[in-house]
Amino acid sequence: MKKIRIGILGLGTVGSGVVCLLNEQRELIQRRLGVEVVIGRIADRSAHRKSAEGVPEDNLNTDFDGLLDDPDIDIVAELIGGTEDARRHILRALKNGKPVVTANKAVLAIHGEEIFSSAEEAGCPLGFEASVAGGIPIVRNLREAFAADRIESVAGILNGTCNYILTEMTEKGAEFAATLKIAQELGYAEADPAFDIDGVDASHKIAILANLAYGTPVDLEAIPTEGIRGIDAIDISFARDLGFRVKLIAIARETEGRLDIRVHPAMLPEHHPLSQVGGVFNSVAVVGANAGPQAFIGQGAGSAATASAVVGDIVEIVRWLRDNGGQSRLPAAAFLPDSRRRLKILSPKEVRTPYYIRFSALDRPGVLSRISGVFGNFDIGLETIIQKGRAGRDDHVPLVIMTYEASEESMQNALGEILSLDVVSPEYALLRVESDGTRFA
Ligand code: HSE
Repeated sequence: MKKIRIGILGLGTVGSGVVCLLNEQRELIQRRLGVEVVIGRIADRSAHRKSAEGVPEDNLNTDFDGLLDDPDIDIVAELIGGTEDARRHILRALKNGKPVVTANKAVLAIHGEEIFSSAEEAGCPLGFEASVAGGIPIVRNLREAFAADRIESVAGILNGTCNYILTEMTEKGAEFAATLKIAQELGYAEADPAFDIDGVDASHKIAILANLAYGTPVDLEAIPTEGIRGIDAIDISFARDLGFRVKLIAIARETEGRLDIRVHPAMLPEHHPLSQVGGVFNSVAVVGANAGPQAFIGQGAGSAATASAVVGDIVEIVRWLRDNGGQSRLPAAAFLPDSRRRLKILSPKEVRTPYYIRFSALDRPGVLSRISGVFGNFDIGLETIIQKGRAGRDDHVPLVIMTYEASEESMQNALGEILSLDVVSPEYALLRVESDGTRFA
C-alpha cells in the first residue's frame, strides 16, 4: 500500500491535536483512501521537552530546514503560527514541490499573495481550511459550494474570545474589564489579549474570507477595525430591550464595484442566526444571490476542532496525490477563485449603516428637539428615540436613539455638533446596526 509521510512544523496545541487525530483515525483514513498516512517527522523549537505518540525520538527535533528538504516528506503541515518564520517555511516547502497545509491566518492575511502565487508556480496544493473559524468548513464551502453563485455578503463571529466576553456581559450584566479578567483566568483570553479584543484576529480572518468570496487581495491596513474594549454593559442591556444582541462582527460585501469590509461591534436583530451563537463558538453567515442566506456554526478554535480541519485538508491532498501521482499540476483555482481583480476598499467614512446612539442629556423640555434638529440638518432619519427613566441627581438622563441608514461621515459630523450642545454631556455610546439581519427573518 502506498505510504504518504506528513512533516509537521510545530507541536503546540494544534500540532498535538493533528498528531493525536492522525494516530486515532489512522485505520479509518487508510480505509477511506487506500493509502497509509503516517507522521514522517516533526520539527519544534522545544523538541527536547516534547514527545509524540508513534514518532521515534530521532524524528522529533528542531531541524525545520532538514524536514522541509527531506525527500521522504510528502506533505508539510505548518502549525507554528506567527508570520515571518511561517512564511519562510511555507515558501521553502513549496519550492521543494511539497503540498502545504496551514492553520495560520496571520501569515495568509499578510503574505497570502506571495504564498498563493508560489503554490501556483510550484503546482502544489495549499490547504488553509483551519485558518478561519477552526473546525467550521467555511473555506471549502466558499470555494466549492458557492462557486457558481454571487456572494452578496459574508459576515461572521470569528473570534471566540470576544464572543465569550460579550456573551458573559449580556447574560450577567457585567462590565468589560471584569469579564475580561474572568476570561483570562479561565484560559479563554490571552494574558495579552489585544490581538483578540481589538479585532485584529477577526480582521485577518475576514481578509481571507473576502479573498475567497470576491477574488480580491485585501490590504489589512485598509480594513476599518474596532474591537470591544469600549462596550458598556448598559448598551448591551438597552440593545436587548430593543430586540438586538451585541456581537463583534467581521463583514465583507461587494458594493458597486468596491469592497465594504470591516470589523466592529454591531447590534444584530435577535432573530439573526449570529445572535444565537454564544460563548467561544464561531459562526459565519453567507448570503448567496441564488443559494440565499445560510449560516455555519461551530468551534472556532481548540486542539481537536482545528486538527479536524487540518487533517481534512491533508486527506484531500492525499487523494490528489493518489489519483494522479502528483504529476498533474493542481490549478490555483482549486484554492482561490480563478478570476482575480483588486477591489478598492470602501473608506470608513463612506460606510453606511443604521446606528444606535446613547447620549446623556439634561432632562428638560426642548432638549430632544435640539438633538433631533441636528440629525435632521445632516439628513439622518430617526427611527426611535427613547428616554430611559427620569433624571437623577445630576439632572441628566440616558437618551437612546436608533437612526435609519446613514454614512459614517454624516454621523460623525452630527455627533460632533450634538456633543457641543450645552444640554448634552460628553459621554456617549455609538453602535452600528447590521441590517443584513432582515435576510434571515
Ligand atoms: N484567538 C482566537 C479566538 C482563536 O479567540 O477565536 C484563534 O484564531
